[in-house]
Amino acid sequence: MKKGLTIGLHSAPFPLLLGGMGVRISAGRLAGHVALCGGFGTVAAAGIGVNSRHYNGRNLAQADPLAFQDEIRKAYAIAPQGVIGVNCMVAVTNYAEMVLAACEAGAKFIVSGAGLPMQLPGIVADRFPEVALIPIVSSSRAAELIARKWHKNYARLPDAVVVEDPDTAGGHLGEKLENIGTGAYDQYQTVRDVKEYFRKVWQADVPVIAAGGIWDRSDMEQALARGADAVQMASRFVCTEECDADPAFKQAYLECRPEDIGLIMSPAGLPGRAIIRHFDQVRQSQLDAGQRCPSNCLHRCSFKEDRERFCIIEALDRAQRGDVVRGLVFCGSNAWKADRITTVAEIFTELFSENQALSPLVSNG
Ligand SMILES: Cc1cc2nc3c(=O)[nH]c(=O)nc-3n(C[C@H](O)[C@H](O)[C@H](O)COP(=O)(O)O)c2cc1C
Repeated sequence: MKKGLTIGLHSAPFPLLLGGMGVRISAGRLAGHVALCGGFGTVAAAGIGVNSRHYNGRNLAQADPLAFQDEIRKAYAIAPQGVIGVNCMVAVTNYAEMVLAACEAGAKFIVSGAGLPMQLPGIVADRFPEVALIPIVSSSRAAELIARKWHKNYARLPDAVVVEDPDTAGGHLGEKLENIGTGAYDQYQTVRDVKEYFRKVWQADVPVIAAGGIWDRSDMEQALARGADAVQMASRFVCTEECDADPAFKQAYLECRPEDIGLIMSPAGLPGRAIIRHFDQVRQSQLDAGQRCPSNCLHRCSFKEDRERFCIIEALDRAQRGDVVRGLVFCGSNAWKADRITTVAEIFTELFSENQALSPLVSNG
């Protein structure tokens, strides 16, 4: 099997995007190595400024775009010819600034979910026509709404669409809590419906990328056989040497069992999938510490407004830095399958090599 991926003006040797993982799980190092190995490497915007050299505990709005650009440059230093892009969540207050900061630093694509990115082409406008725009949806209806709005207001269609499966993906999910895991959602029907919609209505061959629960070569091959043009994988890349998280975060994946993975309600009003073994301690530790909203990072946040639930950025940052008991470890439903720390190159070899040899495709410098 040899199948590349072209999105807009950008092509990579393999049909794989790294799923953006916020608060420095997929920062410059992981994104750079995925791009070096021949995938689309994604730096996630959410909370990237926290714990960066630009942050003083109060200035996330200023630190975020600067830290974001540092990480995009770090990725390019690893893979100068690679396809490096970003993941920006619509739900955050500095969405437009982060999109522009990414474009200025040379991002080649923007993947955008946690809300419908209706304004995205207007933000990028005519200044960065070469940047590919890729919404994340969990229904064909959402893809249709975005396409109609983008075409009407900006004479533009998505360059690709990520279809994210709420029953398996990690992090925030685009479906109501009560509908997740009921069996009502059909991931590959949605993938094919989105593909067909663009073909029929717009006569456009828009790449559709399946995300959620894709762990190994057989999962990937099934996704491609069932209608996806490419896959987006996130959790699988956490237990790599190159992943930007603390070793304790990776260890939490290695130790978790299927029954430790579950759903929580985020203060953003969206469900999220995470390791829930110590979840009650996330809120309790913040209450004990008198935690207040430090940064106004989300438009809608029940912690900011009513001190309900917990501060998400604090919880994710804690986990990224290694406190996986009082921090929140987001993960996909297959994270329990992680059984060792590997390298990005080894994962690419397993997924794509013609003869399944275990030698890395590229040296891991
Ligand atoms: C630790 C973690 C953090 C994530 N953060 C984000 C994020 O900031 N923005 C986003 O759109 N998706 C985020 N996701 C979702 C992934 O990008 C991806 O679509 C999903 O996890 C795919 O499923 P998989 O993990 O089973 O491969 C996150 C997932 C994980 C595991």
